[in-house]
Amino acid sequence: MVKLDPWGSAQIESYERLMREFGILPFSDVLNKVVDPHPYMRRGIIYGHRDFERILDAMKKGKGYAMMTGFMPSGKPHLGHKMVMNQIVWYQKRKAILYVCVADIEAYTVRRIDRNKCVNFGLEYLSYLVASGLELDDNTVIYFQSAKNAGYHAFSKLAARKVTFNELEAIYGTLTPGKIVSALTQVADILLPQLEHGPIPTVVPVGSDQDPHIRLTRDIASRFKAEYRFILPSSTYHKFQTGLDGGKMSSSKPSSYIALNEREEEIRKKIMNAFTGGRVTLEEQKRLGGNPEICTVFELFAYHLEMDDKALEEIYRSCKEGRRLCGPCKKECIEKLVEMLHTLNEKKEEAMERVKEFVVLPDGA
Ligand code: TRP
Ligand code: SF4
Repeated sequence: MVKLDPWGSAQIESYERLMREFGILPFSDVLNKVVDPHPYMRRGIIYGHRDFERILDAMKKGKGYAMMTGFMPSGKPHLGHKMVMNQIVWYQKRKAILYVCVADIEAYTVRRIDRNKCVNFGLEYLSYLVASGLELDDNTVIYFQSAKNAGYHAFSKLAARKVTFNELEAIYGTLTPGKIVSALTQVADILLPQLEHGPIPTVVPVGSDQDPHIRLTRDIASRFKAEYRFILPSSTYHKFQTGLDGGKMSSSKPSSYIALNEREEEIRKKIMNAFTGGRVTLEEQKRLGGNPEICTVFELFAYHLEMDDKALEEIYRSCKEGRRLCGPCKKECIEKLVEMLHTLNEKKEEAMERVKEFVVLPDGA
């Protein structure tokens, strides 16, 4: 059995198996119905969904729908978070009502991060999100869990009636009070657009590790039928970028990720040391070609640096055919990444000012 633990660190070996066991459907089935799909959709980085047709239908008919997602403020924002930011901005351009939460209750109770750190990391995330192109307009809600209104918190408690302890254990394994509170808080996050706007389709773009929360929310939503008439939330699932060392990308392992405020020297060092699909010798590389499928440098192009499909394919092919060598390829990657992060950071300070004016900060932190 595939065990998904949103608080664990299990790496996902087989996305196909995961989909079969939990009933996540392949995104490729709906791809041709998406108008101007995000590159992540075309590239199979967004690989699965639940009920995404509902969102497509709302988009097509110009009916209201919401996008809701959240960030865990337990470390520095890095490229793994940037890919979620890119998706959020994509939905805003497609007229979604946006809800973005900073999961500071979860970070404090489960990850045991100090309150003031949760707030500071949260503000960092939000300002990078704004620097990535998010408009802070009337259809956009950004919030810290601990600073959201009483109705939201009341709902997260009322939801406790709709699930048994055994069900929670079956979903999450060993429970702690913090995990229970965080799970029910996340249920309130995911249903918040509907608490505030009435029944509307809602899409939640997440990594596979968050699917337990999606399933719990859908179960609870259906059990509230009489009281709220929720529409079951939809979701999409993206693959995680591999850590630069070839393992898991993790905030607790600086060599595995590139922070959004990484210094240029560090970027250079980390990419030069990154795990690639290159051959042992130059001669072999030219003769046999490289292996972009397992290359973390190729992933950087696919996730962040080359949004043109034709150009990405050429990187892939030239690598496979031995026309591309790792040295120059890494250099190209470094140049592009340095430029991208430089542009992002140029906008970030001003973005921070705007975020601070817009968001309600938790008090006492
Ligand atoms: N649990 C998520 C994480 O670990 C953060 C989160 C909180 C979230 N509320 C959410 C994600 C609602 C999606 C939707 O990253
Ligand atoms: Fe990776 Fe580039 Fe080397 Fe190919 S040439 S294996 S894409 S670093």
